[in-house]
Amino acid sequence: MVFDKGSTGKARSLAQNWINTNLNNFAAEITCGLPEYDDRLDSWRISLKYRETSVIGELQANRRLTEIKNATKTNLIIERIRKAIPQEQRSTRRNSNVFVPAAIPNKIILGDCVQVLEEYPPDTAQLVFTSPPYYNAKPEYSEFVDYQEYLDFLRRVFIRCHSILSEGRFLVVNVSPVLIKRASRSTSSTRIPIPFDIHQIMKSIGFDFVDDIIWEKPEGAGWNVGRGRRFRADRQPLQYKPVTVTEYVLVYRKHTEKLIDWNIRKHHSQEYVTASKILGDYDVTNIWRIPPNTSKIHPATFPEALARKIIRYYSFINDMVVDPFAGIGTVGYAAIELGRRFMLIDTDPKYYAYMKKNIIKKVSEDTRVDCYIYNDHNEGE
Ligand SMILES: C[S@@+](CC[C@H](N)C(=O)[O-])C[C@H]1O[C@@H](n2cnc3c(N)ncnc32)[C@H](O)[C@@H]1O
Repeated sequence: MVFDKGSTGKARSLAQNWINTNLNNFAAEITCGLPEYDDRLDSWRISLKYRETSVIGELQANRRLTEIKNATKTNLIIERIRKAIPQEQRSTRRNSNVFVPAAIPNKIILGDCVQVLEEYPPDTAQLVFTSPPYYNAKPEYSEFVDYQEYLDFLRRVFIRCHSILSEGRFLVVNVSPVLIKRASRSTSSTRIPIPFDIHQIMKSIGFDFVDDIIWEKPEGAGWNVGRGRRFRADRQPLQYKPVTVTEYVLVYRKHTEKLIDWNIRKHHSQEYVTASKILGDYDVTNIWRIPPNTSKIHPATFPEALARKIIRYYSFINDMVVDPFAGIGTVGYAAIELGRRFMLIDTDPKYYAYMKKNIIKKVSEDTRVDCYIYNDHNEGE
């Protein structure tokens, strides 16, 4: 079959009409590729391009060029256009303002973090670092009816954290699978893979997974649990159980289409950005060897060295770092040392009293620290 130049012109104008009718908002940015007649389909094929570069769909017209008889679905085309717009352009188009965080003073709060965080607006926090209460691992934590209730509770907490966190900023959570010892000789022990269930929660809330850092404790830690004893004696396959000497430190970023570079370039103080540079040695791999912490006051603290690393790598000077499960306030000490602000929340009056007494000693005299019991705002200091 022979077609003249007029045919391709006719095909183009047919395609243009279709674009104007179906994709009017984008008409100025969509162009047609060279129309080609396809014998196999007995149709004209016209590719659609976004800004002359990305192919975003195709139209098929009948041989006589009187109608478009087939087209890529418009919602698919729009989705491809969205993806084709360079990230950078989208960011500046939507929000070119420099974000200046409200200067919320340091806080130590006694209360349920879900309720407490509800009081705080978006952009309160620029980093959340925490380690949730263990699921039934210790008798004092066995306040959940079952595992699902525990996960539902964590979901509520992380939803609150998401809403107070600034765009594109990080939430880091220290968790590990929990070993539930067997109840009798006829049952087996179980390991609950909490980090993997938390991951599903984080994804569904609107966090993007960034990294899994492995906190490795030195040789010797974890042996007291007795895991692997049976295998050590019998050496039977299938009975192998390693002694666990690691915990996860899962790193998430509040979802945004903007690159991390945007968080750096649009920071309200480039002096803080420069002063926050991580110079000298740093952790090149995702395995961090840090001795565990022991405390006479609290059964499950993480080491200050871990908190320091997280704060240095994932926040800038003067950022607000929130720990919704603060315990004795390890995050607070590290934040003070690194020139960040802190918000520490715990439900236990013993830990609240401890933080109030000890953290305030660490800050300079002119630094404000608000301490209060949730629902009793009269206790300000
Ligand atoms: C694993 S510990 C955190 C220890 C902390 N990282 C430290 O280094 O001291 C978890 C803490 O969460 C607290 N907690 C449990 N439920 C809470 C809630 N609903 N709101 C705030 N804190 C809670 C517990 O009292 C406990 O101190």
